[in-house]
Amino acid sequence: MGALFGVLLVMVASQADGGTTADPEAARKLLFMVQYVAGDYSGAVDGAGVVTNADEYAEAVQTMKEANALYARLKPNGPQGAALSSLAALVDTKAAPPKVETSGRALVDALTRELNITPAPSRIPDLDTGARLYAVACVKCHGAEGKGDGPAAAGLKPPPAPLQDPAWADSRAPFHIFNTLTLGIAGTGMASFAAVYDEDNRWALAFYVLTLRRPAQPPKAHPALNVVTLASQSNQQLVAKLVADKVAPDAAAALNLVDAARRVAPEALSPAVALSRVADAAKKAAELSNKEQRAAAQDLVASAYFESMEPVEPELRRGWPDEVTRLEGAITNLRKAISDGLPVDALANDVAMQADVLRGRVGGVGPAKAAKAPPWGLLGGGLAVALLVIAGLFVLGRRSAA
Ligand code: HEC
Repeated sequence: MGALFGVLLVMVASQADGGTTADPEAARKLLFMVQYVAGDYSGAVDGAGVVTNADEYAEAVQTMKEANALYARLKPNGPQGAALSSLAALVDTKAAPPKVETSGRALVDALTRELNITPAPSRIPDLDTGARLYAVACVKCHGAEGKGDGPAAAGLKPPPAPLQDPAWADSRAPFHIFNTLTLGIAGTGMASFAAVYDEDNRWALAFYVLTLRRPAQPPKAHPALNVVTLASQSNQQLVAKLVADKVAPDAAAALNLVDAARRVAPEALSPAVALSRVADAAKKAAELSNKEQRAAAQDLVASAYFESMEPVEPELRRGWPDEVTRLEGAITNLRKAISDGLPVDALANDVAMQADVLRGRVGGVGPAKAAKAPPWGLLGGGLAVALLVIAGLFVLGRRSAA
């Protein structure tokens, strides 16, 4: 039965794969852009439609423009094109923030489904938050150590899942646990926590639950597994991959690495490294743009902005608000010039210069360190779809079994 079910899943998964977008990385970026506009717009325009922060506003306008172009590239004449244009129009006409937020969120949901994007938190969640919430909401059934022996567990049928049991834990991805928390398991003691905890908190719980399988260990060196990989893969999948890629000599060693990677957020990008990536990206984007490879140039600057600059921005802004504003303005100007097909060299130099000024301020002067690439990248989109399908069927199965 188990084998049959497995075969079925593989079939369903490979069929579903036909609908996947060819470029999962770009799809996630698109989602992030829309999320970003929906989340940050209220810092740019007030309820009366008055711009309160011109830079933030210009950024939102430009980001929507790029999001529309990116979607048109991923899905020419796709079903969400109209919704994307109307969100862009709301931003262009300085609509009140609640409108932009509501349409933005609806669009994020629709795009997630259409593009088969594996949901993942934006960064590795804070395990302390997970531990705190677990103590409040889960211990009474699952027990402090996840043995299923909490005071409210007696008499529950089925009993609470043995979260600390490696046989249980190693085959589950955080995404599966996140789904369980979102949907609950009908007909059992396991309720939905969607109304109680927001997505960030559910991700924090999902990552924390997988640490119950072992007593806390001091953090060790670990491979730079990115958060999407960590969120969407089980220990077993990651171990197999690390062994196959010879990152670890055997399964036990690989499991230690995975365990450490799940417990310790990868070292945050230092502001100096982030800034040198922004400068590099601007220069490379100018080269690409001059070769008429404008889409690639656009991608490069947008990625540098969202993946390097955004995470360190709050920290930089605390110390050097004016320099940050100048750099962000320079980036927006460059993004605009690239999409409008205007000359970009001077603007790219300006970005690089502003980034260097800031880098000098934070004390990171010196040659830009090469970006450290993770030893292995994302597994294919097909696998991500398989996981979505498995998670979905699993929950459905449990529901109908109940
Ligand atoms: C009222 C008791 C109760 C509480 C509170 C509770 N659970 Fe559960 N949980 C259960 C039961 C019972 C099951 C087993 C359901 C089944 O076997 O279908 C379960 C199953 C699970 C599973 C396994 C799902 C799967 O697909 O195998 C996870 C993960 C889980 N709970 C996490 C949590 C977390 C995290 C919390 C706290 C936010 C929590 N639970 C709170 C009773 C509870």
